[in-house]
Amino acid sequence: MSVPAIDVRGLRYTYPDGTPALRGVDFQLAAGESVALLGANGSGKTTFLLHMAGLLRGDGEVRIGGVTLEEETLSAIRRSVGYVFQDSDDQLFMPTVLEDVAFGPLHRGVDGVESIRRARETLATLGISHLEDRAPYHLSAGEKKRASLAGVLVMNPDVLIFDEPTTFLDPPGQNELARLLMELPQAKLIATHDVYFARKVSGRAVFFAAGRIAGDGPVEVIADRFHWRLS
Ligand SMILES: Nc1ncnc2c1ncn2[C@@H]1O[C@H](COP(=O)(O)OP(=O)(O)OP(=O)(O)O)[C@@H](O)[C@H]1O
Ligand SMILES: [Mg+2]
Repeated sequence: MSVPAIDVRGLRYTYPDGTPALRGVDFQLAAGESVALLGANGSGKTTFLLHMAGLLRGDGEVRIGGVTLEEETLSAIRRSVGYVFQDSDDQLFMPTVLEDVAFGPLHRGVDGVESIRRARETLATLGISHLEDRAPYHLSAGEKKRASLAGVLVMNPDVLIFDEPTTFLDPPGQNELARLLMELPQAKLIATHDVYFARKVSGRAVFFAAGRIAGDGPVEVIADRFHWRLS
């Protein structure tokens, strides 16, 4: 059996102001598997995702690709997990899209020419080569989302994390993103309030409630069980 992409046992986290956010989460994700994270506002989805990327540290065990997340493995794990933030403005910071996407490889010691080559290749894969000289700050929301995704994919991570990726995207933009996600071979965690989108990008859903996973199963079954539909 192959090593799970993610294996979490008894994860607990309380924010410094005393707000309990995760109250004992057990979770496994197979290599290459996708899962949608559903659940009410404040139920712990984002807090959980931040733990998977080593951006927050709680009590319990987190293993990524078979490696236990701890001080010594933190930087390697951060490299193997790509996090697409809900707000692209948290992600994009260089003067142009090309420089932004090339920043990751460059920062990791890849030489300038090769970093630019990889950045261009990733932009082409995402169909946004025409944006390379644009300032990220002036892009539309959908363009920003794809530019941020390029900055993550250029690093070739093993696990991809998306927090509310459809926010600000128009319906064609959402369809395009869903199509793109389905083509990516990585294991994926996708927090979303959109059951329709969840169903398109993932067979499986976990339902967060008050800092715990209250249900785990096919998206449709979970949506029915928790009455997670517009009426
Ligand atoms: N920086 C913070 N400091 C204190 N409490 C926080 C912080 N961020 C989140 N929380 C609290 O932690 C709990 C879980 O929040 P989290 O953001 O993980 O929920 P969520 O499921 O992602 O919600 P949403 O659907 O609104 O994005 C909530 O009670 C929230 O108020
Ligand atoms: Mg959230």
